Amino acid sequence: MADLFGTGAARPGHRPRQDSSAMTGAHGLVGRDALLGQIAAVLAGRAALGPALLLRGQPGAGKSALLDTAVAAVRAHGGRTVHAGALECEAGLAFSGLHQVLHPLREWAGTLPQRQRYALDRTFGVVGGDAPDRLAVSVAALALVECAAEQAGALRIVVDDAQWIDPSSAEVLAFVVRRTGAGVAFLGAARPGTDSPLDQAGLPEAVVAALDAEAAGQLLDAAHPALPPAVRGGGRGQSAGAGRAARRAERASAGRARGAAREPAAQRSPRAPVRRPGALPPVRRAPPVAAGRP
Ligand SMILES: Nc1ncnc2c1ncn2[C@@H]1O[C@H](COP(=O)(O)OP(=O)(O)O)[C@@H](O)[C@H]1O
Ligand SMILES: [Mg+2]
Repeated sequence: MADLFGTGAARPGHRPRQDSSAMTGAHGLVGRDALLGQIAAVLAGRAALGPALLLRGQPGAGKSALLDTAVAAVRAHGGRTVHAGALECEAGLAFSGLHQVLHPLREWAGTLPQRQRYALDRTFGVVGGDAPDRLAVSVAALALVECAAEQAGALRIVVDDAQWIDPSSAEVLAFVVRRTGAGVAFLGAARPGTDSPLDQAGLPEAVVAALDAEAAGQLLDAAHPALPPAVRGGGRGQSAGAGRAARRAERASAGRARGAAREPAAQRSPRAPVRRPGALPPVRRAPPVAAGRP
């Protein structure tokens, strides 16, 4: 586990960056060695503050990149890793976040006492009956997590965008994370200033701050090695989120390309709508029913 981030494993969902390996190390992230070391200790169960950590950072700071890197590396070390990502569109759907975490562990549900299995089944609406109280759900979720950790050798629960976990799930997850013992680690990421039961669980936190000027400059150089010094100089001496540094370089390149070859207005393609990655496709609306139609 000591070489957790020395594997060079590819990170799913992230574009490889040009010429970046020389200055980023095998994990491919710029300026994050200290945070990755902290994460590795948590996932290996040897962190002084315990096997849980919540990363905090503004959008674009690099939280997801850190989680993806950690997950890719730790998966090579065996055990089981659940990588969940809360969705804004499910923030109001009770227990949807808990379902994301527990569903990948369902193969072990059969080993739970019937009462606990039933509590989870009723929570997720798999069987009918009154919803169990929150304590019963929490105890059943804890039992499933501990059982999975024991059977798999180790269990890491990784939750991205935790600011969008529905409150019911956050409450149960906080209960579970506060009680889990050896073999279970929790790593989450959330924006600052949220108010969820998971925030109030008293978990150790680490701030994903903007990259310092040196790292932001390295990122610009790696992503856009041909950037003219006058443009690239704008990135020096300022700190920035990783995403912001990359976007600034892209804007600069796009501006130069526009200057080089201006298309006549009539030939320009319409501006594509901005869509978040993973967002649902646009809804096709049925035409309104004409008044007076049968
Ligand atoms: N340390 C880093 N080195 C290189 N690229 C990074 C780094 N951190 C983030 N990125 C890139 O910046 C963009 C935004 O990062 P992301 O992890 O999505 O931010 P967040 O999850 O905090 O909103 C992504 O394209 C990501 O791959
Ligand atoms: Mg993110």
